Amino acid sequence: MIEITERAEVERILVDPASHVPEAAVPPDTAASPMTRFRAGVSRFVNGAEHGARRARLDDLLGGLDPAALAAAASVRARAGTPAGQIPVAVLAEAIGFDEVDELPLLAATVAAAYPAGESSDPDAADAAVSALLDASGSTDPDERALRVQLLVQAHTATTTLVERALALARSQDPGVSTRTLLESVLRDDSPVPATRRLVPARLGGDESLVTLRLDGPDREATDDRPARILAFGAGHRACPAPHHALAIAAAIVEAMRADGRRDEETP
Ligand code: HEM
Repeated sequence: MIEITERAEVERILVDPASHVPEAAVPPDTAASPMTRFRAGVSRFVNGAEHGARRARLDDLLGGLDPAALAAAASVRARAGTPAGQIPVAVLAEAIGFDEVDELPLLAATVAAAYPAGESSDPDAADAAVSALLDASGSTDPDERALRVQLLVQAHTATTTLVERALALARSQDPGVSTRTLLESVLRDDSPVPATRRLVPARLGGDESLVTLRLDGPDREATDDRPARILAFGAGHRACPAPHHALAIAAAIVEAMRADGRRDEETP
């Protein structure tokens, strides 16, 4: 598969309405697995008007969540000792109205591992995790259930990786560096979602070709005065719809854990 790394070129393809995502359709004559049906029901693997409709519903759901309240809940959990990797899903799930939120981070992690390509080393576990998340979603409408679960699954790995990398960077930096600066450095230099894929139109007719787009490649237009463009949240009409929510949650966790680390260091 062709891989495109240069950020200006990657951005150009991401914002081009003629580029599409590979779709996750349900094969018509099969008893599709829960994971197959879930991927077919989310916004991430569909194009055109259906993407627009699902995306609008996701924007509504996200619009009902206050980033400051998510940050406060994340901070409480971080200070209570909840592992960083469990916090984003737990606070989002609680705010959206899921049941049994403390059980969900592990389930979301299992689904997230199989989500991008629809392949899992343990398909039964992935199917069971999808079904449990859908059942806990607090809705009986199948379309709504899939979109609510999508938010947890999309949030899990990306936000956890952002937090882990910012904390790792903090350890090698002056303690006075702000959490905001740490997060921005990770987004610019070490994108938590390293790559995505698109089908791009063939230049001279024929079939579309599948390309990998790196979100962490070089930016040839960057200079001392113009930092590299940030593609960590994607670009165009399929860019991440939740950067403010993600940054609020991540900053709260990093801040709480850095404060905790400082207290530990100060305690004889
Ligand atoms: C609260 C946490 C988060 C939520 C709820 C969330 C949700 C989503 C959703 C629903 C989509 C699909 C959009 C669509 O289908 O149109 C998406 C896409 C994306 N998200 Fe997030 N996300 C979160 C955190 C993050 C973080 C921390 C990063 C990376 C720093 C990230 C990077 C991306 C990228 C790159 C895409 C676009 C993929 C592509 O264009 O192919 N997300 N996110």
